Amino acid sequence: MSFFDADIPFYAEPLETNRLLLRRLVMADAQDVFEYGRDPEVARHVLWDEYKSVSESRSYIRSMMRHYRFGDASSWGIELKQTGRIVGTIGYMWFQAEHRSTEVGYSLARPCWNQGLMTEALKAVIAYSFDTLHLNRVEAQHEITNPASGAVMRKCGMQFEGTLRQRLMNKGAYVDVDLYAILRSDYVSRSMYH
Ligand SMILES: CC(C)(COP(=O)(O)OP(=O)(O)OC[C@H]1O[C@@H](n2cnc3c(N)ncnc32)[C@H](O)[C@@H]1OP(=O)(O)O)[C@@H](O)C(=O)NCCC(=O)NCCS
Repeated sequence: MSFFDADIPFYAEPLETNRLLLRRLVMADAQDVFEYGRDPEVARHVLWDEYKSVSESRSYIRSMMRHYRFGDASSWGIELKQTGRIVGTIGYMWFQAEHRSTEVGYSLARPCWNQGLMTEALKAVIAYSFDTLHLNRVEAQHEITNPASGAVMRKCGMQFEGTLRQRLMNKGAYVDVDLYAILRSDYVSRSMYH
């Protein structure tokens, strides 16, 4: 557990939406995680490299299982209820307990893109962040060359706060990112969540 996580234990309790079950990853999901994690298009705008073998997805799941055990920032697996398969992840990159804030990140298998699935997942995570974890601010950022991710954030009621120049180094190049956030006060005033 990191210093900043100290007062926000998070155990990735399951969350259900219309089409999705957000749940803890287990080792039996390694092949599903590998299937989408091997896709260079999925890995293009995230800070991990495409998987070369299923052992890399096993290592990822192992690290998530450690985080689950210690109540540390971690990700849910995204299970498509219709198939029972894991098609992505969504979760917390960090918590800052003293500021009641967090950053959310996500990725989804390419065959599932543009069906509103990540919007459905992110809305559930935002609601959980305010209703259950009692946070005040949820951030997300995306590379400016990844507009679909910005569209997801806006559809979930997050507000654009600015472009951070060369904020990250991704796959050998500095990249500009757009920062979005939603505050508790924005959330309570939005009827889409109630
Ligand atoms: C980004 C990502 C999460 C989007 O998930 P998704 O389930 O396809 O998102 P949704 O279907 O809920 O919404 C996608 C929106 O982006 C829009 N979109 C798609 N491609 C776009 C493009 N090239 N330019 C602008 N908008 C685009 C869609 O039209 C849709 O908006 P709409 O509902 O207003 O039409 C998914 O593509 C993904 O996992 N990509 C790989 C990993 C990644 O980039 N993760 C995010 C890192 S910040």
